[in-house]
Amino acid sequence: MNWGLEVSMTEKEISLNRGLQGVYLDRTQTTFIDGKNGVLEYSGYNIHDLAENSNFEETSYLLMYGKLPNKKQLEVFDKSLKNARKLPEKIYDVIEIVKDSHPMDVLRTAISTLSSFDEDREDFSEEAIIRKGIKLTSQVPMIVMAHYRMRKGLDPIEPSKTLAHASNFLYMLEGEEPTKDTARLMDIDFVVHADHGCNASAFTTRVVTGTNADFYGAITAGIAALSGPSHGGAAEGVMELARDVGKADNAANHVKKLLSNRERVMGFGHRVYKSADPRAKHLKEGVKKLSKEKGQTEWYDILLAVQEAMRPYARRGIHANVDFFAGAVYYLIGIPKDLFVPIFAVGRIPGWTIQILEQMRHNILIRPLLHYTGSREKLYVSIDKRD
Ligand code: CMC
Repeated sequence: MNWGLEVSMTEKEISLNRGLQGVYLDRTQTTFIDGKNGVLEYSGYNIHDLAENSNFEETSYLLMYGKLPNKKQLEVFDKSLKNARKLPEKIYDVIEIVKDSHPMDVLRTAISTLSSFDEDREDFSEEAIIRKGIKLTSQVPMIVMAHYRMRKGLDPIEPSKTLAHASNFLYMLEGEEPTKDTARLMDIDFVVHADHGCNASAFTTRVVTGTNADFYGAITAGIAALSGPSHGGAAEGVMELARDVGKADNAANHVKKLLSNRERVMGFGHRVYKSADPRAKHLKEGVKKLSKEKGQTEWYDILLAVQEAMRPYARRGIHANVDFFAGAVYYLIGIPKDLFVPIFAVGRIPGWTIQILEQMRHNILIRPLLHYTGSREKLYVSIDKRD
């Protein structure tokens, strides 16, 4: 069977693109990525500008409506987000039933169940999709944190009515308000994760939406796609890598060993970015600051040493991606490692919402082809005559 790069003449003729690499699926007005030059923009605004000057609420508005809000619009949007900090009682029962599963599986199940409680379920209008997106943006952090508490036998912490999105997320962990710096770092993390073009999970939400299935179905499928280690799961892998390395002096040998066994260095490489991932810079700065503040600089030193050991691979387009420093941010804040991928999902809801909406605006069934390489025209043999 021919799975590899040796493309037969026939495959060349049909231009087979495994993994849909380099294939444009549609047009978008939301996220621009120039992977060669490491550029990322949301609705025309550079990610560096947004990470430095915006916040998650404003960036979510930008993604969902395609423009920056004025003061009044942001106030109304922020109020809608805060008002949406409610979960149907029965969702807690569902979390209780599945609480021994991985947090991503719990999140997937809870989001899928939320559709049963949505009065707007049959409403596919733009306004309804935005309403659902806003609601889910506030509910996903509640699900993640309720599960975190309930699996430890603790009651979930009621969300704050006043705290900003990122602060409220951290507040629901142990009921303590984060410091201004920690809250800002979490906020930046959500901003840089808010959308990222046609990655595997966004593509999945588009495939589901392409069949005219509902919003919750699309997001549930997106969560499943995000959970894998090649996509959202890498941040968890990076902290495992850092722990395996143990101290900065070991990094070069450890990386050498991984690469000689043809293993992946988690948090490195990207399907689109062949130069530095612009999101990584903001989290790197955050880890540096936070590790000093916490008096735990060893993690930052280890990550820097791994990055140094990977330097020769930059020539091949392999650089640290957003997940490389994200794991250390979460670890230093005191978040357990199996919540790292759900945090990615917390930030990504606005991006998935707008991608679902864009797909719906000019909907088309997404149905590529598979090039058949098996044998053909065989004669059916009855079961008693088979070897
Ligand atoms: N460590 C070692 N080698 C790597 C890595 C890595 N992290 N990433 C790519 N390569 C090598 C790979 O071995 C291959 O080499 P060769 O041509 O000799 O076989 C070459 O680079 C191309 O790799 P690929 O898998 O064909 O490239 P891809 O575009 O399909 O992979 C990726 C993208 C993200 C799956 C891959 O880089 C990877 O597995 N990285 C580690 C996991 C990770 O950090 N994922 C988070 C991605 S960013 C968050 C997000 O947006 O989801």
